[in-house]
Amino acid sequence: MSKFKLLLVLLCAVVLIPAYVIATEGGYVDPVKTWEFGYKLWLYISAVIWAGVTIALIYFIFKYKKKSPGRDVDGEYIHGNIGLEILWTAIPTVIVILLAAQTWAVFNELRSPPDDAYEISVTGYQFGFDYVYNYDLEGKLLPQAIKKGTPTDKLVVPEGPVKLLLGTRAGDVVHSFYIPVFKTKEDMIPGRKTYIYFLAKEEQIGKTFPIYCAEYCGTRHSLMLSDIEVKSKDEFKEWVSKQAMAVAEAAQASPLERGKKLVGSQCIGCHNITGEPGGYAPTLKGVFGKEREFEDGTTAVADEAYIKESIRAGDAKIVKGYPKMSNFPPESISDEEVNAIIEYLKTVK
Ligand code: CUA
Repeated sequence: MSKFKLLLVLLCAVVLIPAYVIATEGGYVDPVKTWEFGYKLWLYISAVIWAGVTIALIYFIFKYKKKSPGRDVDGEYIHGNIGLEILWTAIPTVIVILLAAQTWAVFNELRSPPDDAYEISVTGYQFGFDYVYNYDLEGKLLPQAIKKGTPTDKLVVPEGPVKLLLGTRAGDVVHSFYIPVFKTKEDMIPGRKTYIYFLAKEEQIGKTFPIYCAEYCGTRHSLMLSDIEVKSKDEFKEWVSKQAMAVAEAAQASPLERGKKLVGSQCIGCHNITGEPGGYAPTLKGVFGKEREFEDGTTAVADEAYIKESIRAGDAKIVKGYPKMSNFPPESISDEEVNAIIEYLKTVK
């Protein structure tokens, strides 16, 4: 490349790199709007290039068809054209730098949550998502975390900026947390903490949108679905205080009652308590005190220690004919809750 061309390219870069468009909403950058702008930019530029190439192609097909008069006469001999070369170097360079700058703007926004974004922890596991709320809307730590994670639980978020802290349960596999409406998707990798940011907007209040796991993670990957619901700030505050009260109440209940609730919410997604055969996971009916047969040919009686181990480390003993169970760490089900589950399972005969 000649010095002149290099200079031209550098000049374009300096002028265009800060030329990207950032869309804002209510004082916050909105990655979705910036994404939409970038998408249209790519689309329109591609359409213009496509139309230009196609029109030229059709024109030349007719102009230089074999039967044209003078077709067998040689054309004029040309030795390069500096002006043309500069033009076809400069135009694509400008376009590519512009598109790269706009794409970078979207990426940068998705990675830059504002300091006042509301934080929720999201943990992926085979096959679902746990949602843990540790703060109220003002960012004050709740006395007890609100844990949501049954198949019917939605991810409830307030209007405004939201930051989700992503991870997986220990020993789980890679999942991918995907919210199409917010144009954001991020891998959940065992042992790694990451995050996503989005802006829930006023027009989305009261609406529910789908969440997907977007990484093949096992036989029930296609069922690893959830929903996200946007609430207004006031409704969200009310929701948090209601949930916090329910958490406090649950702590007062007898172990048997707590166990029944926990099994109904946490276990029933894979197990059943009716004794029906052919489920994804072994039935819990009459499981306590029963002899279990494992994949490696060993056996054990399902006592308290066995049930606790199964909840904490589902891959320690795998029941014959079934997949390994997901690991539930103490952040997800506390020791107290494990004991409550055992108390309840003793009664499911
Ligand atoms: Cu989790 Cu696919």
